Amino acid sequence: MATRVAIGNNKGGAKKTTLAVRLAEALARAGKKVGVVDFDPQGNASRRLGWKDDPQAPKLTAAEAIEYDDNQLVHQGQAASVWQPIGWTVPYAERIRLIPARYTLEDRATEAGMKGAWRRLAKALKGTDDDLDYVLIDCPPSLGHLTQMALGASHFALASTEPEYDSIEAAVRYRDFVAASGEDLGNPDLSFLGLVVSAYDMRVGGHVGQLAGARDIFGEQLWGHIPRRSLITNADEFAQPLDEISDSSEVRGVFENLAQRFIKEVPAL
Ligand SMILES: Nc1ncnc2c1ncn2[C@@H]1O[C@H](COP(=O)(O)OP(=O)(O)OP(=O)(O)O)[C@@H](O)[C@H]1O
Ligand SMILES: [Mg+2]
Repeated sequence: MATRVAIGNNKGGAKKTTLAVRLAEALARAGKKVGVVDFDPQGNASRRLGWKDDPQAPKLTAAEAIEYDDNQLVHQGQAASVWQPIGWTVPYAERIRLIPARYTLEDRATEAGMKGAWRRLAKALKGTDDDLDYVLIDCPPSLGHLTQMALGASHFALASTEPEYDSIEAAVRYRDFVAASGEDLGNPDLSFLGLVVSAYDMRVGGHVGQLAGARDIFGEQLWGHIPRRSLITNADEFAQPLDEISDSSEVRGVFENLAQRFIKEVPAL
């Protein structure tokens, strides 16, 4: 089994998807085999990784990976047929594969009350990621059913935040939810890894204070910060890998350092 990490925050716009996509990219550049599970019905990670659906012949997505059959069962390893290549053409893209998402994943959220609902992702992924080093799960901005399923299927949780009060407070809620919920999610060994502060700009007075505040709250679990760069916004906007963008060496270096810490702290299984 790959080591699975759920990337979350209880607030929207906390840079979760950018962290999932760019960390996956940096890990793949470092030679690791990485799976990305897009578990947000917005499907932002899928699009940014260059994945495109075909309206004439819709592809399988996370919604099908965890769908009940006619007997209200989700089968072990059901996600196997849903893993697919990403759309990028850089060489390291071969080491990343994806369970994409479309808005239809929302339909699964309404099934929260059904039998075994919150174990569906764990069951569906079982045996399908043995050849990968890591799986990163991009969570929606909530602590609801989809995020709970992601946490039930993960070994670790990593939080992403902007250097702003409400976002850090929501990262604390995610951390505390992880600490309190492992047992209830059938996953008592689930543990919180740390926090990444994204889009940090030292010219913004509030950011300096918020980064210091995050350090006070998270201590050693503050994994550092990623600078605010329009290059990152543009790469996400145009669904590009950083290697295809000129002058991206500083940003690539930042995510490489993050990937090195990740490799050091997250045990491969
Ligand atoms: N370091 C950065 N510098 C500049 N822009 C960034 C940076 N990191 C992320 N962004 C941009 O911020 C925006 C929001 O990021 P993102 O979509 O990853 O947040 P999110 O937490 O996944 O949002 P949601 O809650 O909607 O899922 C995106 O346009 C993204 O490209
Ligand atoms: Mg997102």
